[in-house]
Amino acid sequence: MANSKEQFGSRFAAIAALAGSAIGLGCIWRFPYMVGENGGAAYIIIYVIATLLLCIPIFFAEFIIGRRSGANCLGAMRKLAPGTPWKWLGVLCTLTPMIILCYYSVVGGWSITYLLKSFNLGYPASFAAFSASTWAPLCAFVVYLGLTCLIVVGGIKKGIAAFTKVSIPLLFALIVFLSVYSITLKGSSAGVDYLFRPDWSKVDAHVVINALGQGFYSLSLGMGIIVTYASYISKKDDMVVAGLGTAGFTLFFALLAGLAIMPAVFAAGIEPASGPGLIFDSLPFIFTSLSSTYPVLGTVVAVLFFFSVSIAALTSSISLVEVPVAWLIEENGFRRGRAVLLVFVIGLIGGVPCALNTGIFQSFDLLCCNVLLPVGGLLCVLFVGWKMKREDVWDEFTNGGSLKWNVRLFGFVRFVLSYLAPVAILAVFVSNFI
Ligand code: PHE
Repeated sequence: MANSKEQFGSRFAAIAALAGSAIGLGCIWRFPYMVGENGGAAYIIIYVIATLLLCIPIFFAEFIIGRRSGANCLGAMRKLAPGTPWKWLGVLCTLTPMIILCYYSVVGGWSITYLLKSFNLGYPASFAAFSASTWAPLCAFVVYLGLTCLIVVGGIKKGIAAFTKVSIPLLFALIVFLSVYSITLKGSSAGVDYLFRPDWSKVDAHVVINALGQGFYSLSLGMGIIVTYASYISKKDDMVVAGLGTAGFTLFFALLAGLAIMPAVFAAGIEPASGPGLIFDSLPFIFTSLSSTYPVLGTVVAVLFFFSVSIAALTSSISLVEVPVAWLIEENGFRRGRAVLLVFVIGLIGGVPCALNTGIFQSFDLLCCNVLLPVGGLLCVLFVGWKMKREDVWDEFTNGGSLKWNVRLFGFVRFVLSYLAPVAILAVFVSNFI
């Protein structure tokens, strides 16, 4: 199928965009804690195996749907399975990112607020009080959503690719600097230990399922993002390189984020936490106490850290906006500017309740992570494993047979997509309710 629409432009741009979507708050506030609590290096090894065996093949499934059709999620189903109920998979994958956008932008708003507060280290007394207040989180949410939409208005090449090509390398440079700094703190070795000392006794079925869930969320699977982004990727690109590159960068970044955060947490003598508490309570405390001895250094480290968090969040949320925008443009004839404006307005309507009420925020999060994402991922895998013609899947995966490695890998990938992945996703799904 011809693919005449706008593209990312280069392999690097494509991987930067995919990695930008993958590298986000999941790496920064979830991964370090999960590693520490679930057996350190043992968990990392399991995470790598789960990613290679399952998450990357699921990534391929979405990639195949997107690049084969050259279309947004609903357009893909219209082209690949016309007149069938599979269109509901397209509907699901277009709606899920819209819902995630609403509450993810609230967190994005917190990040830019803390970035601004870092300049004079005037953090709110407690994160709980800040997030429960009315105006500050609300205004920050609107500004953050606006920023996200501004990037997407620029289009694929001049907006998304231009932004991620610069920010991903910058993000790596910043996190390397922060982790080197953090490891050199006195008392930091307890943090390095917490992260990496392997403890196989902690490893059980639950840990394996956790690792799988983390990989799934981290690679932005099950929400139509890979489908949409793959439709902008050249037919000549190798999806195995794209998948390994994205997963590799994401893991590397997550490990560096762990090294930037946990040693500092231990050096300051605080209990490691997961979720917002880690970056919005523990770290400001550390920056403030650092600045009482070294005022300039404390401020610089704080600003760089929250700048990184904000950029990491932005490169993820632009991918959320692009999914419904692609649908509006391709299926409904919208111009890009209008499509983005509409998504902005819907995001505002859905996000305001999340910004004002933590209960609503949490229900959106639970609904997406525990229900919509696994269902979306499962259906994508079943679609490629059972519904698409084998020859079409082969053709797309091997670029018409020209990629020798992919030809060899194909049997394995198809086996995973047809049998292993559906079972594994179901296991994660069910275990979330137990
Ligand atoms: N991979 C992201 C993360 O780790 C999850 C996500 C993807 C969030 C896309 C929003 C958009 O934070």
